[in-house]
Amino acid sequence: MTGVVDLFAGAGGWDLAARELDIDPVGIELDAAAIATRHAAQLPTIRADLHGYPPRPSDGLIASPPCPAFSAAGNREGLADIGRLQRTVADPARLATEPDDGWNDSTSGLIVQTARWAHHADQWVTLEQVPAVLPVWQALAHGLKQAGWRTAWTGVLNAADYGVPQTRRRAILIAHRTRRVEPPEPTHTNPTAIKSGDLFGGDLLPWVSMADALGWAGRVGFPRRDDRGDSCDGYRERDWFPTAGPAQTVTEKARSWVLNRPATTIQCDPRVAPPGHRDRAGGERQFPDGTIRVEPWEAAALQTFPTCHPWQGTRTAQFRQIGNAIPPLLAHHILGAVQ
Ligand SMILES: C[S@@+](CC[C@H](N)C(=O)[O-])C[C@H]1O[C@@H](n2cnc3c(N)ncnc32)[C@H](O)[C@@H]1O
Repeated sequence: MTGVVDLFAGAGGWDLAARELDIDPVGIELDAAAIATRHAAQLPTIRADLHGYPPRPSDGLIASPPCPAFSAAGNREGLADIGRLQRTVADPARLATEPDDGWNDSTSGLIVQTARWAHHADQWVTLEQVPAVLPVWQALAHGLKQAGWRTAWTGVLNAADYGVPQTRRRAILIAHRTRRVEPPEPTHTNPTAIKSGDLFGGDLLPWVSMADALGWAGRVGFPRRDDRGDSCDGYRERDWFPTAGPAQTVTEKARSWVLNRPATTIQCDPRVAPPGHRDRAGGERQFPDGTIRVEPWEAAALQTFPTCHPWQGTRTAQFRQIGNAIPPLLAHHILGAVQ
């Protein structure tokens, strides 16, 4: 297999961005609804279970392995595997022999698989996961450098800093075998930082608020589903949404944050939680007062998918695909770094 491969390709967040950059990845995916969406969007796809699927050579490798085991929204059982994952992926010899099973959470074996595929890439690798996985990406970067790769950058990027109307933070690895590459430069910033004069240089735009993104700004109410129109905008030139439409009742608590800041992380769920840390282990609700309910197309817009992306499956399956995806606009900036 040569060309570019997208492991755990989902509904195509990376692939839409890749297509804009004249990269044509083949996605590997298991979930039937995500595969149906990919077919409807004409994204090349291999249906396969990556557990035990032998790594193949590629020109470039993209991967967003599943994250429930490490995510604040999931069971977090994979956190107990982080130390062993670090030791495994930091050492190319150990990586080749470490069993895929015997992990606290089975998805940890998929991170090991991802690391093996990375070593088989001929030119470059871009990986994405929840922030808790950053130490594993750092260890893999060490392993790639040991194997002679020129660049292996890791860090946590905030999607809002790239114009995505959502403060989604993700651990990223960007590696190139032969070239020096830099992480993508932010295009946007927290307007609070602008006001308080924290910025060096005034070229950055303010974060896009959730209300601006959905055409809710300056309005009393929120638009209904049929306000979205039929046009299909790209994720980079979005004119966002029409602003006419009847009101949906929104609490004052929700209105105050929705108007002023990007959405919080879109999960596999119709609820968008208000900002702020919540101690879930201590019994605090994940979706307290100030939570907003959205339709799938609104969640997809907050993830910067084009309005015409042909989501398939049940409503639940659509929210799952949307919440799992990398925002195409963020993917565009990351892939731009290795082109
Ligand atoms: C975090 S999501 C990646 C989403 C994708 N990057 C996007 O932008 O839409 C992880 C994906 O891995 C898929 N997956 C989970 N286990 C898998 C396996 N064993 N083999 C192949 N795909 C798997 C899930 O169905 C899900 O779509």
